[in-house]
Order: sequence, then structure tokens, then C-alpha cells
Amino acid sequence: MLLTLIAGTLILLLTWDFARKRQRVATLESSKITGPLSLPILGCGLQALHLGAENIIQWVGEQFERYGKTFRMWVLGESLIYTKDLRQFEHILGSTTLLEKGQLYKFLRPFLNDGLLLSTGRKWHSRRKAFTHAFHFTVLEHYVEIMDRSSGIMVEKLRPVADGKTPVDMLKFVSLAALDVITEAAMGVQVNAQNDPDFPYIKALKSVVYIQPNRMLKFSQRFDWLFPLAAPLLYRKLLDDIRVMHHFTDKVIRERRSTVERAIADGSYRPLSLGDAEIGRKSQMALLDILLQVSINGESLTDADIREEVDTFMFEGDDTTSSGVSHALYAIARHPEVQQRIYEELLDVLGPDPESPVTQALLQNLKYLDCVIKETMRLYPAVPAIGRHTQREIKVGEQTIPADTSIYLVLYFAHRDPDHFPDPLSFKPERFLEGQEEAHETFAYVPFSAGPKNCIGQKFAVLEMKAMISKVLRSYELLPLGEDLKPMMNFILRSSSGINVGLRPRV
Ligand code: HEM
Repeated sequence: MLLTLIAGTLILLLTWDFARKRQRVATLESSKITGPLSLPILGCGLQALHLGAENIIQWVGEQFERYGKTFRMWVLGESLIYTKDLRQFEHILGSTTLLEKGQLYKFLRPFLNDGLLLSTGRKWHSRRKAFTHAFHFTVLEHYVEIMDRSSGIMVEKLRPVADGKTPVDMLKFVSLAALDVITEAAMGVQVNAQNDPDFPYIKALKSVVYIQPNRMLKFSQRFDWLFPLAAPLLYRKLLDDIRVMHHFTDKVIRERRSTVERAIADGSYRPLSLGDAEIGRKSQMALLDILLQVSINGESLTDADIREEVDTFMFEGDDTTSSGVSHALYAIARHPEVQQRIYEELLDVLGPDPESPVTQALLQNLKYLDCVIKETMRLYPAVPAIGRHTQREIKVGEQTIPADTSIYLVLYFAHRDPDHFPDPLSFKPERFLEGQEEAHETFAYVPFSAGPKNCIGQKFAVLEMKAMISKVLRSYELLPLGEDLKPMMNFILRSSSGINVGLRPRV
């Protein structure tokens, strides 16, 4: 009796699984998109979901070797495509309608809600237009002062370990400095993460951006219905951390709103206008102030609207930039000729005093450093993959991607494709020198994505990377110490062995 029941249930499950996947399987087969062995019901889940963040990049690379520039995966009923094919990049990033993010982004939703990164449609479009003000170059000037100050603190924090022989995991230092920058730039408050890494908001943010991406690569935690049962303590911790984060952001927003309201009442309030040269000079001008002043279709944003955007800036603006800066320092330490050339440029443009402040114009004049950052983002893109979800079939060349499928554009491997970058694994900033640029096809190099949903904070990020790298290099010579990178991915590119360099004070 029991056996009959089990057999009947199994047959029902197999039939259901076959029926829900049939159309997508047929489309993939007719497009000759293949991939690793997929079992009924489970798909490739057993193979892929025990890998962990440490092994996923290598595993994806092996699948590209085996199945070509595009391969498919099944995780239970989810169909996923991984691609490094530029035709797919062009079609997907260039599209003005294919804006919905891949299924894996659902792990961001509990703390980012429907902010710019995750929103689509009218809401995204009108906000994206309105927020462009916040990244105007006059506004960016103000943030450079914050970047310079926080980089100066980082340089001092590094001093005890800068003995020429200790390997230092740069991400630990850079990440706290980047948090100081983005918290002050986004919210106008100083949390002093570098002096107080245990500040509750900082601890909660760090914990959430660790737990959520880790979950997506574990079978027992990936599904929302299973997570509270499989890891109840972690689940509670996640909820508590999100509560701490939201509580802090809410409080800051309320306080800033009442400051603006007081300014309106006493007549000192002046609405924002694009190109307003004074904006950058106003002390304490934060992205939050701009969001408070923005109105969309005549209506101001509510506190909840603002919170999802501030949280999005905090998430997007911290880990990405720290990954970029740390990888750049790692690569510079291992290429002495590159380091020497940057240092000469720093002396030339910024002068011999390592503490003299930088400005936006000075940072923009660091042209060779610009190439070094570009080459770093080619080999080590902070966002190693970008995902979209298809609502209906899309046809790209000979291939059709089925509806209801998440497609991941794997920047990490596209940027290392010898078809687009000769000698792809060598670190050669000269590739990006003006006049000597290799013929990069559009979409072959997209560390900040491209098309309508590209990175709105791109200019901010490049200025911050330049401010931090230049500050470190003016004070220290970097040495190739410590373990090599072991790339791992949990949304952002990191390394399980640390991002190590040695530092020796410059005389
Ligand atoms: C090295 C640093 C950075 C890198 C590599 C980077 C990369 C990216 C990429 C690849 C996307 C597209 C993601 C996707 O479609 O899934 C993106 C979107 C975004 N980034 Fe960045 N980012 C960086 C820094 C920043 C900073 C500093 C901010 C804010 C201050 C920021 C704000 C955003 C926002 C709000 C979006 C969503 C834009 C939209 O969908 O309209 N990013 N970023």
C-alpha cells in the first residue's frame, strides 16, 4: 500500500515536472543550448548547490569550456542560462523592455525592497530620471572631500601593519573606509566605521550582505519556505539585522526631513535645480537631501520610497567599490612597473606632499591610474555577473531563450575572452590608453553594465577608487606579499584567500 502511494506520488511529480519544463526544454534543445546533466525534478541542483561561493566561478568556467559560450542549468523548476556571448550581451543590455532582474536578485529584495536596482516599469523610469541630479558633477565635488578624508583615515589605520613584511588583506581596510564614504555621502551622517566597526548599522549591513548571497548557493537555504526550517537561527539573525538596518535608515530620514521642513519654515530652503553650482559647496549635502527635494510627477517621495533608495545606494556603493579598490591594489603590488608609472603620475599631478587634498579635477587628470582601474575591472569585475528574467521568448541570432528563464551575463569570463582581449589573462593597463585602445567591441567591456539599467553611480565609484588608491600609493610602496587570489562570488567578486598585499612606508 505504502509502496503504491510512493510510486503514485513519484509518477505525479515526474509528470508535473515534465509538463512545466516541456516548452522551455524544447526551445533550448532547438537552439542547441546544452548544459550539465539535469535530473528530473532536481535539475542540476545537486551539482551546483553544494559548490559554495568559493568554487562557483571555477565551476562556471569549466561549463563554458565544455558547452561553449552559452550553457543552460536547471534548479528544480527554474531555468537559468549563463552566457559570455557578446550577441546576448548586446541584445539584453541594449533592450529597453527586458529590465526585470534574474531570479537570484530576490535575495536582495528583503533589504533593498523596490529601489532603483530592482524596480522596473514606470516607477524605475521616473526615479532614474529624477536621481540623475544626484550624480551631477557639481554634486560629486562635495563627495570627493569625504572620499579624501576617509582615505586619509585608512592610510593611518594601515600604518601598524605597513612594515614591509606583513601580508595585509586590503579588503578589510578598504571596506570600512568605503562604508564611511557611502554612509556620509548617502545619508549625511558619519558612522566612523573605521574607528567603530561594531556600530550596529555597520555590523547588520555586513551580516546581511554575507548571509543572503551565501544562501543562494546552498540547497537547504535557497528556498524561502525551507530556509526558516533548515537554518532557524540564521533566519532570525537575518530578520534582526534587516530590522536594525531599516530602523537606522528610517531614523536618519526622519531627522533629515524635519531639518528640511524647518528650513522651509524659516525661508532658507531652496529647491534643487540641475547645474546648481552651489549644491556641491553646501556642507552636509547628501544623496538623501537630494531625494528629499526630488519630486516625481509633482509628488514628493515618502519615507518608505526614500529608504529603499538609500539602502540601494548603501548596498551598491560599498562592496562594489571596495572590491574594485582592493583588486587594483593587489594587481599594482604584483606589477612593479605599473606601480612606478602610477607613482610618477601622482607626483606629477598631485605633488610630493602625500597629505595634500585632492579635488575632482585633479583626480580626473590621473589618466594612467584611470587605465589601471579599467584593466582591474576587466580582469576582476566587482559585479561578476548581471542577470535578467525573460517574460517571453527572445531570439538572439540562431538561439532562442525561452520565456520564464533567468539569463546571467557572466562579465568575469566575457572580459577574459581571447576573441575580444588578446593575451586576456595579462594585466596590461596600456590596453586602455587613449589612442592605443584595443578595438573593444561595444558590450565586450561592461563592468558598470550598459544600456538603460547601467550603473548610475559609475562616476562616483571611479572618483572614489582613484581617491583611495592614490592616497595609499602616495604613502606606501605596495609589495607582492601574501597568498594569491582565490576568486569567489557572492554577488560581488571577492577572494577566499584574501586580497593580499604588503606595504612599506615611502621615505
Ligand atoms: C566599482 C564600483 C561599482 C561597480 C562595479 C558597479 C556596477 C554596477 C552594475 C554592473 C550595475 C548593474 C547591475 C544589474 O543590472 O544587475 C549597477 C547598478 C547600479 N549601481 Fe553600481 N557599481 C559600482 C558602484 C556604485 C556606487 C558607488 C553607487 C551609488 C553611489 C552605485 C549605484 C548603483 C545603482 C543605484 C544601480 C541600479 C541602477 C538602475 O538599475 O537604474 N553603484 N552597478
